[in-house]
Amino acid sequence: MNDLTTVVDSAVAAFAAVNTPADLENAKAQYLGKSGRITDMMKGMAALPVEEKKTRGAAINLAKQAIEAALNARRQALADAELQAQLQAEALDVTLPGRQRGQGGLHPVSLTLERIEAIFGSMGFEVAQGPEIESDWFNFTALNTPEDHPARSMHDTFYVEGGSEAAPNLLRTHTSPMQIRHAVQHVKKHRLAAEGSVTAGDFFSGAMPEIRVIAPGRTYRVDSDATHSPMFHQCEGLWVGEAISFKDLKFVFTDFCRTFFENKDLVLRFRPSFFPFTEPSAEIDIQFPSGPLAGRWLEVAGSGQVHPNVIRNMGLDPERYIGFAFGMGPDRLTMLRYGVNDLRLFFDGDIRFLSQFR
Ligand code: PHE
Repeated sequence: MNDLTTVVDSAVAAFAAVNTPADLENAKAQYLGKSGRITDMMKGMAALPVEEKKTRGAAINLAKQAIEAALNARRQALADAELQAQLQAEALDVTLPGRQRGQGGLHPVSLTLERIEAIFGSMGFEVAQGPEIESDWFNFTALNTPEDHPARSMHDTFYVEGGSEAAPNLLRTHTSPMQIRHAVQHVKKHRLAAEGSVTAGDFFSGAMPEIRVIAPGRTYRVDSDATHSPMFHQCEGLWVGEAISFKDLKFVFTDFCRTFFENKDLVLRFRPSFFPFTEPSAEIDIQFPSGPLAGRWLEVAGSGQVHPNVIRNMGLDPERYIGFAFGMGPDRLTMLRYGVNDLRLFFDGDIRFLSQFR
């Protein structure tokens, strides 16, 4: 019987030593195959007497069963190991953070424009949009700046194709043409509604609401350095009625600046100046009471009382209608609000800079 125990032990050891199903099948052949050791033992029984054959046969069968059991156990173990390895190789780590989509955001100047619109909106101002390619008439002439007026040389104008010699097209040098465009539309709309009968006392009679509008947008001048870009932004403001004075301009613009910069102690200065389309005219400077910019006067807008010739070009009687206009620089306001000192950063499109304003 000893030889059987040895065979079983040796089979169990052989099965344990292999690591792949193929090797296991080879090992199996050595014991249970056609010329395997168990098979040989069976053959060896032929010469034995009948009685011994019985006991020997039963013992070999037990050994064979033990080997088969060991084989099956090892097969299962190898299959389990293989499955385990596969599971590990194909594992999905659901605790890894997902791949993020790039998060977009508004350009800092757009944020400023939204802010300007919200503040003036709260004061009852409409928002108007107009063309960037403008005619000489709207950009200059209608704004009381005749052809040979020296004030035209204040602006270095980009001229574009399409107009005539007498009436060239250009990229608007300011948003002031929107004063005329919007006012003309406004007057036309309300006069039509009143069947042409409304002129004097329009605003007070309620037949024509006051003109109260801002017009933000892109403007262009031949100019380029750290504080000037050939494309820049302006926001026009216009309030025309029958009793709108310079004090309304002061109140409205002061209120706007203090709200925009969230600083009720901000100081404003209206410094006498000249624009052909306003009389009197003023540059508006602001001063922060504290912080890194404290003590400096910072120019933020041009302004004034709308010139009678401009009121006339709006289709209104300057004897009756009066108002104020201003034109401010949203790029400048953005630089002051966020402490940016080079205007060109806004238009270079460097995502590292822009993403800071998300
Ligand atoms: N359009 C003027 C400029 O670009 C600013 C301005 C607007 C001044 C309205 C007065 C009134 O400099």
